[in-house]
Amino acid sequence: MRLLQFGFLVALASGLSAILIYIAGVSNLNAIHQLSHEDVEALESLQSSFRKCVNANGLGLQAVTGNDYCQVIINFPSDTVPKWKDPKTGELEGLSFEFNLCEAVATWEQVRNSTTVLTREFIDALPNGWEDYAWRRINKGILLNHCQNKTLCVEKLSLVLPETPPYVPRQFDRCAVIGNSGDLLKTRFGKEIDGYDAVVRENGAPTQNYTDYVGKKSTFRLLNRGSAKALDKVVELDETRTETLIIKTTIHDIMNKMIQEVPINNPVYLMLGASFGSAAKGTGLKALEFALSICESVDMYGFTVDPGYKEWTRYFSESRQGHTPLHGRAYYQMMECLGLIKIHSPMRADPDRVVKWVPSSTTIRAARVASEKLLRRVGAGSEDPLAACSIRKKQVRRSTVISSLRKAAVEHRKFVKGTTLYPLEHSLGHGMVCTLPTD
Ligand SMILES: *[C@@H]1O[C@H](CO)[C@@H](O)[C@H](O)[C@H]1NC(C)=O
Ligand SMILES: *[C@@H]1O[C@H](CO)[C@@H](O)[C@H](O)[C@H]1NC(C)=O
Ligand SMILES: *[C@@H]1O[C@H](CO)[C@@H](O)[C@H](O)[C@H]1NC(C)=O
Repeated sequence: MRLLQFGFLVALASGLSAILIYIAGVSNLNAIHQLSHEDVEALESLQSSFRKCVNANGLGLQAVTGNDYCQVIINFPSDTVPKWKDPKTGELEGLSFEFNLCEAVATWEQVRNSTTVLTREFIDALPNGWEDYAWRRINKGILLNHCQNKTLCVEKLSLVLPETPPYVPRQFDRCAVIGNSGDLLKTRFGKEIDGYDAVVRENGAPTQNYTDYVGKKSTFRLLNRGSAKALDKVVELDETRTETLIIKTTIHDIMNKMIQEVPINNPVYLMLGASFGSAAKGTGLKALEFALSICESVDMYGFTVDPGYKEWTRYFSESRQGHTPLHGRAYYQMMECLGLIKIHSPMRADPDRVVKWVPSSTTIRAARVASEKLLRRVGAGSEDPLAACSIRKKQVRRSTVISSLRKAAVEHRKFVKGTTLYPLEHSLGHGMVCTLPTD
């Protein structure tokens, strides 16, 4: 490692070609050839601010850089006592977590310009969208015979499938995502939370009887399969019955039930997902993903992210079985230090807390472009906002109410020329499905 660092200094001194040779030794040869001097500098600069940011804001977490321009390792203090055991192996959770900053910065920045709600136009744009995707995702239990009768299929699915996205990127200004951690009872964030433009809650989280701690406002509720099955109970949690429900998983059985028996007036949508690997299975991270796809800024409350983890608690019920608490805390700290979210917790309760050393938007942008090249993403490094579209389809748009949108949302729509971009699941180069306006 020493030697490599020295090697890098020498390379810097002797110019671009030497740099290429140096990096080629530690990383992917072909991809590196596409990196310019500026790209390399951007990745270095990202890593450097990132490290300072974690060390300054992580309440004891320390970030160190790994073997290449992407790898970082976040370490917990050595006296941290891990409590969570992997039920399969019986092993305690480790104190050291490796992350790929290039993956993270490229993928999360893409989320900010994507639509994460499943729509009819998305299914229409996919090859065999109705027979294959819709059937696998929504339909299996309804025996619609692979959607062969598309009219019938669309009719049944219209309950959860809007024609076009109900929300667009940057539609909301400041958003809060509220987890269900018992830590929420240690502070009174209620008033602060109610001051956001949109509030995203999760699963069976009540507000009644807890408003001092968690606030009253509730704009969206993200549901995992278990909660979605109890949809009738979930809608009662919001007295105003105006919350929008977003279901994150495959839902054939739930669809059956909804179609047949549950009278709900709330809008219900399904979520599409980009893939963030194993870190991103929980409802919490999905809620952040959803919020990042429609909000200018995202603040996080009610996640267990302070030192001294003892057990998985919820503010409204007994403690329960959780999963990978230390990994989660490290991952959220990474998100904060990529400028994606701001963490609020009992130990970070000052609403005016400034997150120190967050990489600037210029650094993030340059590092994102370099990461796309390094990871060989579809359309990497292109100036064209639609370069990542691996599937394009023209779509007749009924007039959407653009006039009421925030300025930033309108500007973004202009930037993408009125196109809607959806993540294409399981796509190697993270290509997108794009629906373009006709004319
Ligand atoms: C398809 O479903 C629609 C709506 O239920 C029905 O009217 C139509 O007859 C069906 N078509 C075929 C070919 O079964
Ligand atoms: C709030 O408290 C009242 C009185 O104890 C109780 O009846 C009600 O079920 C509680 N509501 C929730 C959502 O826990
Ligand atoms: C997302 O959109 C903004 C403009 O609103 C643009 O500056 C940025 O480069 C886009 N990011 C990606 C990953 O396409």
